[in-house]
Amino acid sequence: AEIMKGSFDHFMQKEIYEQPESVVNTMRGRVNFENHKVTLGGLRGYLPIIRRARRIVFIACGTSYHSCMATRAIFEELTEIPGQTELASDFLDRRTPIFRDDVCVFVSQSGETADTILAMRYCLERGAVCVGVTNTVGSSISRETHCGVHINAGPEIGVASTKAYTSQYIALVMMALQLSEDRNSVTERRQEIIDGLYRLPGHIKEVLDEDTNLQILAKDTLSKERSLLIMGRGYQNATCLEGALKIKEISYMHSEGILAGELKHGPLALVDENIPVILVMTKDSLYPKVQSALQQVTARKGQPIIICNSNDDSLIKDYKTIRVPQTVDCLQGLINIVPLQILSYHLAILQDRNVDFPRNLAKSVTVE
Ligand code: AGP
Repeated sequence: AEIMKGSFDHFMQKEIYEQPESVVNTMRGRVNFENHKVTLGGLRGYLPIIRRARRIVFIACGTSYHSCMATRAIFEELTEIPGQTELASDFLDRRTPIFRDDVCVFVSQSGETADTILAMRYCLERGAVCVGVTNTVGSSISRETHCGVHINAGPEIGVASTKAYTSQYIALVMMALQLSEDRNSVTERRQEIIDGLYRLPGHIKEVLDEDTNLQILAKDTLSKERSLLIMGRGYQNATCLEGALKIKEISYMHSEGILAGELKHGPLALVDENIPVILVMTKDSLYPKVQSALQQVTARKGQPIIICNSNDDSLIKDYKTIRVPQTVDCLQGLINIVPLQILSYHLAILQDRNVDFPRNLAKSVTVE
């Protein structure tokens, strides 16, 4: 069936706006919010083997790789299985050692990305258990892996991946929740996360309501700039990298995601009164450390725009802020990415770019 943009100007915009529903579709029939249970039918039969894995290696490219980065910490926390994230091309370049007691998870919207497919075949040959996380039923990665999860986000047409990111993120969190259901020590943590998933669609809607403010911010503050730094740490490192990828991909503006913990090790030299900075500063256990990053930036006369929680009044006086609802630390990235998606969209429109089909890029990269 032909997919229509409906009342939207671009597929990307439509896909950003679909997220309150697409995240529900990813969870439908899988997350039971009453008894706090997660059941992924596609992993049936493989759960005992995965639980016994020596390590889990997440392999992907681009945005899909960022979804692995975003969920690695909660995966390790809930399952206590060491996790490792790999860019498919680099994983192959290094001829990474892989063994029979490894579990390898391949995350790909299309299921047809050449680098990810080659990495999958490499792991299959070495006897690892291979899990596919894709948005495309019948794709090479769905067919050739032993088991997996379809993210059910619906077709994504815009080259810039948006709703697939949030759905991949949820699929990986659901996997961690199911794998850890036998661990009593994490029962409360699991319940808190499942309650957070329940509230997620409403939280995303709240961010979508900020569209006009973000459009104004893009126009008045950012669209004439040459470069934009996006900083954060912990769970939000992935948000920064993903936000920067969106911006460069569709607006062609240089943008860089920076791990705030690395500032003093180099990137701080870029900061002066002229370079725009976005600081992701939502409340979690690393908040004091991000406050110190804020001080480092302001001490160099930087004027950061801050992504912070709507209930955090400490910053509104002194800074331009983008306010987002607060959720469980490990899910906050699902909310924080949305204003950056919207910002990238407006930056691209203001530069008159081809939002859905940016130059030099293809939706699915089927060559190495
Ligand atoms: C994201 O906006 C990009 N277009 C790109 O990084 C993409 O995520 C990457 O090519 C991987 O694609 P896949 O998920 O279909 O494997």
